[in-house]
Amino acid sequence: MNMNEIDLKLLELLHNGDFVSGEKISEEIGVSRTTIWKHINKLKQQGYQIESATNKGYRLVKIPDRIVPEEVYLGLKTDYIGREIKVFSSLGSTNERAKELARKDFPTGTVVIAEEQTAGKGRLGRSWFSPPGTGLWFSLIVRPDIPPNKAPFLTIIASLTLVKALSELNPELKPLIKWPNDILIDDRKVCGILSELNADLGMINFAVIGIGINVNQDYFPEELSAKATSLKIALNTRIDRTGLLQGILNFFEGYYQKLLEGRFKEILKEWKGYLNILGESVTIYSGSETYQGRVIDISSLGELVIKDNSGKVWSFWAGDVTLRKEEN
Ligand code: BTN
Repeated sequence: MNMNEIDLKLLELLHNGDFVSGEKISEEIGVSRTTIWKHINKLKQQGYQIESATNKGYRLVKIPDRIVPEEVYLGLKTDYIGREIKVFSSLGSTNERAKELARKDFPTGTVVIAEEQTAGKGRLGRSWFSPPGTGLWFSLIVRPDIPPNKAPFLTIIASLTLVKALSELNPELKPLIKWPNDILIDDRKVCGILSELNADLGMINFAVIGIGINVNQDYFPEELSAKATSLKIALNTRIDRTGLLQGILNFFEGYYQKLLEGRFKEILKEWKGYLNILGESVTIYSGSETYQGRVIDISSLGELVIKDNSGKVWSFWAGDVTLRKEEN
C-alpha cells in the first residue's frame, strides 16, 4: 500500500482518536477541505474506520490490522532501526528475503516483514508455523562492527528486546527467556529467534535476526498446542501488532547501541535476570551426545555452563544443542 504525504499527515493528526475539525486539518496540512475529504475516503477504502460528525470533524476509530510501514514510522523513536520497512503479503521466509536485500547493500535497521510465511524457518532446521495476519514474522538486517565470536550477542539483545517490549505491552505478561532464545509466557513458547550470520575471517559482513511472535492466534495445530501460546491467549484480548513492532524496534536500537559500544557485561547481566534456567537440572542434546547436569552459569560469551553429576563442567554454544529442563 502506498501512502502519500497527505495520508500520513492525516493519520498523524487523527492518531490519538479525538475529533479534529475539517478546518483545522486543512489548515495544518495546507490543502482544501475537499482534498481532505477525498483522502479520508481513500483511507476508508484501505480499511481505516473514520467517523465524521457535523461540527466536530473526523475521528479515527480503528486502523486496519495490517502492517503499514508509514504507520510504524509514526511511532518510532529510533535513528536507524526500522527506518526502512518492507512488507510482503507472503514470503517463503523473511530471513531469506532479508539476506537477499543485505547482499544488495540494504543498511542496518532494514526490516523485512511478511503477513504469512510459507517456509518459515526455525532453529536446527525446524520449520516455523507462520499463518497469515496473526503473528509478527520479520527479520532485521544489521552490520555490527564487532568480532564474529561476539555474534551470539545479537540473539541475546534480540531476546532482551522482546522481553522488554512484551513487558511494556502488558506488565502482566512476565515473559522469560528459555536459553538460548525462546521467549516463554506461562511456560509456553510465544516467540522464537533465528539469527543468521554472513562473516569473513575476523569480520561480520551482515547478520539477519529473524523474529517470530505468536500474536493473535486463537489456537495452534495439535502438535504445537501443548508447547505454544500467543499473546492473545495469554491476555485474552487482541493485540495491535503495529504498536508491538514499534516497541520492539525502539528497544532494539538501545541494546544494539550498547553492543556496538562493547558493553557486553552489562547486556549479559540484564539478560541473565530473565533466564528461566539458572540453577535448574537440564538435559542437553548435542548431535548424538546427551549431557545431564545443573546449570551453574552463563559464560561471558553467552554459553550455557553446566556441572554434571561427576562434577565435570561443560559449556555449550546455543547454535548446536537442544535443551530440556527436567521437572524436579
Ligand atoms: C526458533 O525458535 O526455532 C526460531 C524461530 C524463528 C522464526 C522467525 S519468523 C521470521 C523469521 N523468518 C524465518 O524464516 N524464521 C524467523
